[in-house]
Amino acid sequence: RKEGYPHFMLKEIHEQPRVIGDTIFGFSKDYEAAASTLASSGNIFITAAGTSFHASLYFSLLTARLAGKKVIPFISSEYESYANLANKEDVLVAVSQSGETIDTLMALRSFKERGCKIISLTNVIGSVISRESHLPVYMKAGPEIGVAATKTFTTQLTALTWLSSLVSFYTGKIGRDELSEIKGRIMKLPDLATRTISRSEGWARRLSQVISSRHSVYYLGRGLGLPIALEGALKLKEIAYVHAEGYPAGESKHGPIALVEPGFPVVFVSIEKNLERKLVGNIEEMKARGAFTIGIFGEQSELVSRVDERIIVPSSDELLLPVLETIPLQLLAYYAAVAKGYDPDKPRNLAKTVTVE
Ligand code: F6R
Repeated sequence: RKEGYPHFMLKEIHEQPRVIGDTIFGFSKDYEAAASTLASSGNIFITAAGTSFHASLYFSLLTARLAGKKVIPFISSEYESYANLANKEDVLVAVSQSGETIDTLMALRSFKERGCKIISLTNVIGSVISRESHLPVYMKAGPEIGVAATKTFTTQLTALTWLSSLVSFYTGKIGRDELSEIKGRIMKLPDLATRTISRSEGWARRLSQVISSRHSVYYLGRGLGLPIALEGALKLKEIAYVHAEGYPAGESKHGPIALVEPGFPVVFVSIEKNLERKLVGNIEEMKARGAFTIGIFGEQSELVSRVDERIIVPSSDELLLPVLETIPLQLLAYYAAVAKGYDPDKPRNLAKTVTVE
């Protein structure tokens, strides 16, 4: 039931504060078991499709940063190119909100046959991916009806932030005190997400008028901002049918910039303070070609005055910004779809669960 919302997608965007809270409340001993397995394993691989892949890429980047551990991310339909690297002492993390995506399941089975330990992160207890893994952990997003993943993505990010922090603890990079300090920060997410939604709604509705009339939009980020940029682009493309590409900001000048002409919208996602100096250069390059620049920033960002339009989410904590900065991007895609008269709950050609390879 839509409970008064015009679409499930909007309802599910608004549910995020609650289900992020439920997910945090559900951090169990299973997360600790998964993290200690990861900390003592050989190579770590993480695999998923679509939005879940963006969460996986985030985990890989964050774990490098927090724990100094290498995590190899790959898109699950490409598993044949990676399976040969897998050995008995390695671990594969399979991420899938439904727990049923065939590509991710095939990747899981091929790594399992090679003797790897399998950890899964799903939203559905008893799903096939969770049943076939050695160590299933869960987000607690509740059923997601909208085809476009929203609350399952932000709960994945929340769960993976905690998992990465635990890996950092089990590898000895941080102590108990620091681990509980991080937990305390993560617990602020529900309240901050509520404030982000109310701050973003009018902004997204207004900007969607611009975005929905364009042929193409770029989403650029660096570091932890990259997976969020990729996700912003995927949302816009899949429900508003506007061509959108997410790209590492620095890489954009190696090709994509060729398409930029006056009025071309470019969204910049900034998460890491120490990468902002470089993002300034990327913003200037786009502005020099007449791009219409939009910034998704945290508090204390130094980029605020550099762009034509911006939204500032209510935190400067780099561990929390990925979740918070996702929200305005979801709303932007949602309102762009509505502005074009499409049903965001039922994008054409897409199914909620993909069961053919
Ligand atoms: C995007 C979307 C898809 C899924 C992908 C994986 O909004 O919903 O890209 O993320 O099909 O699905 P799960 O997470 O169920 O494996």
